[in-house]
Amino acid sequence: MKIAIIGAGNMGGAIARGLAKGTKINASDITVANPTDGKLDALKAFNPELNVTNSNQAAIDNVDAIVLAVKPWLIKSVLEDIRIDIKKQMIVSVASGITFADYCNILGESATIFRVIPNTAISLLESTTLIASHNASKEQEQLLLDLFNEMGLAMKIPESQMTAATALTSCGIAYVLKYIHAAVEAGVEMGIYPKDAQKMVAQSVKGAAELLLQNDTHPAIEIDKVTTPGGITIKGLNELEHAGFSSAIIRAMKASR
Ligand SMILES: NC(=O)c1ccc[n+]([C@@H]2O[C@H](COP(=O)([O-])OP(=O)(O)OC[C@H]3O[C@@H](n4cnc5c(N)ncnc54)[C@H](OP(=O)(O)O)[C@@H]3O)[C@@H](O)[C@H]2O)c1
Repeated sequence: MKIAIIGAGNMGGAIARGLAKGTKINASDITVANPTDGKLDALKAFNPELNVTNSNQAAIDNVDAIVLAVKPWLIKSVLEDIRIDIKKQMIVSVASGITFADYCNILGESATIFRVIPNTAISLLESTTLIASHNASKEQEQLLLDLFNEMGLAMKIPESQMTAATALTSCGIAYVLKYIHAAVEAGVEMGIYPKDAQKMVAQSVKGAAELLLQNDTHPAIEIDKVTTPGGITIKGLNELEHAGFSSAIIRAMKASR
């Protein structure tokens, strides 16, 4: 399979690196297009087998899939400037907020389109990647899941859930970081060096997430395991709730839709 990535920024660059590291596509079958050279040079330095170009049209000639990784407001003009073979080439868009209806207005109803929303952890192959499809076969859907599962955890969802799920994953990563930042501040106030505090909190968050992901358990069950009646954890948990912790998280997620 040959793939073109249009836009070599945060997302396009991370996807190119992730695909090149993965087992599903040869780096030599990936072409990345960008108008300026700096990010393309960095990709070449990362893996000399990657193909790079300043021409979007040259990148997409003879590929099976075209990944659109430019800012959402550039999608229309980028698509209008290239000739896509809609019968043979599928579109994989990472642009937030551009719907299947928007793409069909430009490309026609018969286009095969994926909307893919990774989060910034994709640069470490730890993304939560949301995938919705339009006119795709089961094989094409599985292919996309396989590709992005090599860069973290990929989940297929209906387009109707894209906005809400993006709040949980793309915006949600910022809320988790906000928790980490606040917890580090607490550690510093209690006399722990910031670098040590950050490692302690970040690994605790990672461990908490792994408990849920690896054991397929429920947060309340894991909380119960560390909550002794009359103990220190329940005191802290109740302080969080008096301050409106759960409510604040729910409101933040809903505000991000
Ligand atoms: N960042 C995230 O967390 C995140 C998460 C999910 C989805 N997304 C989506 O990913 C897309 C890209 O975001 P990003 O953060 O990667 O942006 P970015 O870092 O600004 O990357 C965009 C890239 O597109 C290039 N570009 C501009 N005009 C172009 C054109 N006409 N043809 C080809 N390439 C062009 C830019 O090149 P120059 O810089 O050289 O101009 C830049 O390298 C957006 O649509 C965003 O909604 C981002």
